[in-house]
Amino acid sequence: MTVSPQDDAPRWLIPWTLDEGSDRARALFEEAFGGEPEAIVSAPGRITVIGDHTDYTEGLSLAAPVAHRTFVAVRRREDEALRMVSGNPPPGEPERWEGAISALVPGTGIDWPYYASGVVWALTERGYSVTGLDLAIVGCLPLEAGLGASASLTAGVGLACNAVWGLALDGEAGAIELAEAAWDAESAYVGFPCGRLDTHTVLRCAEDEAVMVDFATVPPSLTRYPLYFHDYGLRLLVVDTGARRDDWMDAYARRSRDARLAAQALGVDSLRLLADEPDGVRRLAGIEDPTARRRARHIVTEDRRVADAVAALGGLGPAHDRFTEIGALMLDSHGSLRADYDASTPALDLAVDTAFAAGALGARLAGAGFGGGAIALVRATQAEHIADQVDAMFVARGLPRPTFLLV
Ligand code: GLA
Repeated sequence: MTVSPQDDAPRWLIPWTLDEGSDRARALFEEAFGGEPEAIVSAPGRITVIGDHTDYTEGLSLAAPVAHRTFVAVRRREDEALRMVSGNPPPGEPERWEGAISALVPGTGIDWPYYASGVVWALTERGYSVTGLDLAIVGCLPLEAGLGASASLTAGVGLACNAVWGLALDGEAGAIELAEAAWDAESAYVGFPCGRLDTHTVLRCAEDEAVMVDFATVPPSLTRYPLYFHDYGLRLLVVDTGARRDDWMDAYARRSRDARLAAQALGVDSLRLLADEPDGVRRLAGIEDPTARRRARHIVTEDRRVADAVAALGGLGPAHDRFTEIGALMLDSHGSLRADYDASTPALDLAVDTAFAAGALGARLAGAGFGGGAIALVRATQAEHIADQVDAMFVARGLPRPTFLLV
């Protein structure tokens, strides 16, 4: 079914330029703390092309950075105070936060200041000697959209620390160390059992690049590809549904527990091993608990879809066939996240179905799910039309209008 576009156009979220983001961070810094920052850094968000909920089971993901970024203006202090201000805090969270670095204690909160200060804590734990900081943080990355906003924040703070503390965490080894510290901030300090996908993508993947991240090792290894989509007139259209289940963090934690139980039931260290075995999916029948069995089936088949998508991306066959195959794999991924992982929502399903019906090669929820965003692989020339159709369909169904962005 197609629907007529509404009179008022869909909402597109255009990324700030680097200059614009830096100016905003500087202005916020000057207003909050007075004087000039010593450095201004930024980190992107990330999109999962395919391969979600595979990073905490030693699996595979194909991911890319997005142009929407978090900007951090920073200056060292003489004392050991940490003062932070956010130009766009999540609803209900504070604009400012202040504390002593020596008083940072893991597991005390989940608002943005805990993610940000968690990076300082993590670097201290890793033995870097630190001073107090003033930090001003602004960004144009939508929150809770499945675009790695928390990793963009922790990565930005890590880069800020590196810039003014003279940590010399540059090059690939430095980026890995910062990605691990940013991961510590979310997993150990905030206490959210996330995998390493987000921080390693935002800190290690270059613009116009896609990376296959293999989580079998720590740190994960990256295989780099040009983001071929652009060369072939294709784009990733992100549909941010603007709503997430209130309990999404608990739901995520339950999924990672289920995945561990499934691996234990099969006597393997991680489900990744099954993805690599020809009869891996058949072996899942050995998991007695039906929910854990479904969760494991998503993970094992998703790892295989990533491998297939990467083969198609870098393959030598006709472009049309390769991108059609990637689109089909994206649809399968969505079906698996919906049916086996229970990570979709009616709004995400509607975004995926409508985008596909309107001409996308494929579409899927992207990121943790339970709300947030979906992505569609689209011909660049059709992106606006597809966004119009999705927008109109949401309006027709009485759902809040989505926001669109292009990768
Ligand atoms: C969130 C987590 C990541 C990853 C994705 C789903 O973004 O932080 O570690 O598990 O969900 O792929």
